[in-house]
Amino acid sequence: MRPGLLLSLLLCAALPAAAQQQDYAAANADRQAMLDLLGIKATRPGADGFNRDAPNAANYDEAKAGEPQLHGVLTMANGDRVDSARMWWRARRPELVELFDREIYGRVPASAPTIDWRVVREESAVEGGVPVVKKWLEGVADNKAWPQASATISLRVTLPRGKARVPLMLSFGFPEGFRFPGPPRPADPGPPYTEQLLQRGWGYAVLVANSIQADNGGLLKDGVIGISLRGKARGPEDWGVLRAWAWGASRAFDVLARDPAIDAKRIGIEGLSRYGKAALVTMAYDQRFAIGFVGSSGAGGAALYRRNFGERMGNLCASGEYHWFAGNFLKYCGVLTEFDLPIDSHQLIALSAPRALFIGAGTVETGDGWVDPKGSFLAAAAASHAWDLLGKPGLSSDVFPEALTPVTGGSLGFRQHQGGHNNRDNWPSFIDFAQARLGAKR
Ligand code: GCU
Repeated sequence: MRPGLLLSLLLCAALPAAAQQQDYAAANADRQAMLDLLGIKATRPGADGFNRDAPNAANYDEAKAGEPQLHGVLTMANGDRVDSARMWWRARRPELVELFDREIYGRVPASAPTIDWRVVREESAVEGGVPVVKKWLEGVADNKAWPQASATISLRVTLPRGKARVPLMLSFGFPEGFRFPGPPRPADPGPPYTEQLLQRGWGYAVLVANSIQADNGGLLKDGVIGISLRGKARGPEDWGVLRAWAWGASRAFDVLARDPAIDAKRIGIEGLSRYGKAALVTMAYDQRFAIGFVGSSGAGGAALYRRNFGERMGNLCASGEYHWFAGNFLKYCGVLTEFDLPIDSHQLIALSAPRALFIGAGTVETGDGWVDPKGSFLAAAAASHAWDLLGKPGLSSDVFPEALTPVTGGSLGFRQHQGGHNNRDNWPSFIDFAQARLGAKR
């Protein structure tokens, strides 16, 4: 099965059938209304990840991927060369942020709710041999202006007990005790990443993405997006779900940074697949995050839109994914194509510069081809110039590495593992990278 699809199918399976049908009908109607608003008559289909004989079968042949010409990260839209850090911060970075806001992820409106955080439970425990304190937090969105929509954001924090100012990794994840339906999966080999972090002096936290905003175009009138819209439908530039998840991570940062047990200068963000996309968007928009671990993020994340490999833009515009983006994104699935987009993923990656960023994926051979690992590496290589300009070397090699070979000598890292569509196999390498960049102990 296509990587990631399992996650989608299982997440849907978790909803009662009647709710699903209703949700998809509502998502289709919402998507169609946006297409009508934009005057788009028909959209291109994406790549078919199931049927190898389909005319639009997903391409996994490097020879057919194309060699996209990329607009340099250090060239302004008008062609001016960006030759100083000052010009990056004053002109180029804002120019890129504006394009990502307008065309891809959408803008956070001024009507986004404030979040009131409270600790609802606290416990001591021992994890991986490390004494810890665990806290369960709830962030209630102020919906006084539109009580028909609501959101209560769920955040779980685990910190080494009795330590001050520890570094912490925040992950986009699932509700506590969440299990994918179906037969239980075999346990992962080795200690979980959470124990690996604790043993190296880090804390960890899990932010439930769907508690910020549901992963469904039919539910945009609820959650933080719904509160901000006050009952109206989204306009073409309003925020999509990835931007909402990233915004929720920023709200989690607000409360984490107030905890004296956490070092606010060493908070990172992690995610896999659609949550990998969200982690990259978080790094791009919120410069308080010191480090990012972006796993198998694929199309709409680190992979180049302009390469034909695995998932394509048409998939992202379909009714199960379009809600991740601003309405305007649909324009590029009609008459226009990804080659008309004024930006591509290398420019999104560059927005993390000069902070530490690790991009990972499984190999094509072990089933992660859908996310285009090489397209993510090429994007990182093109983004790397932003790090160099800002005085922190980016990728330490511009040659696409073999599996299991980390390219982590600079502040922009990349590694492919052989575990398929997961982050598990890259955690040890990521933690080494994080230690080298930020150090666990002061
Ligand atoms: C699908 C989708 C990807 C996404 C993945 C996931 O495979 O096409 O874009 O990243 O689901 O999040 O599981």
